[in-house]
Amino acid sequence: MDLQHVRATASAIAREAGAVLMERFGLPHQEKAKSSPVDIVTESDAAAEAVIVAGLTQHFPDHHIVGEEGGGMGAPAELAPYFWYVDPLDGTTNYASDIPFFSVSIGLADRTMRPLVGVVYDPFSDELYSAAVGHGATLNDQPMHVSQVGTLQGAVLCSGFPYNYASTPENNLREWGAFCAQTRGMRRFGSAALELGYVAAGRLDGYWEQRLNPWDIQAGIVLVREAGGLVTDYDGAESEMVHRGQRVIASNGHLHAEIRRVLAEVRS
Ligand code: IPD
Ligand code: CA
Ligand code: CA
Repeated sequence: MDLQHVRATASAIAREAGAVLMERFGLPHQEKAKSSPVDIVTESDAAAEAVIVAGLTQHFPDHHIVGEEGGGMGAPAELAPYFWYVDPLDGTTNYASDIPFFSVSIGLADRTMRPLVGVVYDPFSDELYSAAVGHGATLNDQPMHVSQVGTLQGAVLCSGFPYNYASTPENNLREWGAFCAQTRGMRRFGSAALELGYVAAGRLDGYWEQRLNPWDIQAGIVLVREAGGLVTDYDGAESEMVHRGQRVIASNGHLHAEIRRVLAEVRS
């Protein structure tokens, strides 16, 4: 398959979905609760996903689509050679509060969930991050690279928290506390896909998070790797934990061992 062609097509579709999000940004929204009262979805999530699914099914009719808001679509999963993982609006909490940090995330993987193409679009800043395995990563068509920071003390790291963090011990709070004491700065922006774009672009030096879903992470994995960084699970391996977003460390590579060490200490 021509991954560069796929990347260009997915980029155009992400821009279309981003335009849908921007048409409604700042207006009152219809909010519905999902897994808990703090886990919400708006009419814009569904509208953006509809645009993406229409575009992907038109261009790739034999591929399966896993969309956050729609479940499985496109060709049947049993028959499809490739799978799309789609988060039409990553950062819904920000979006619903008129905070301009959110993204469209579209990732292509093979049947084993190995990520192949990633596109993340920030429509408010009009910044499009894209990558394909073996072809490098770009930000608005300019090559992008991870940072060179080699110490935690000089690093700005980012993470996030699951919606049910009040009720689960796997809530990332102890991990967050440990990094606060050892880094230059910590950020929680609220869009995992876009945060991975920031790691790929060298704006953030590293990132970790747990209890995400494949649509949050699949596109970002390709961005960071093709920008020269590393993405693994907490054991330093490329496993299903990474591909499913269950435990992810993404870094510029230089900080990877240190991030793993801090996580291991806190979690032991
Ligand atoms: C959320 C964001 C956030 C992360 C959450 C995700 P959503 O996705 O990526 O950064 O910390 O765990 O669920 O709900 O805005 O698509
Ligand atoms: Ca998401
Ligand atoms: Ca979402």
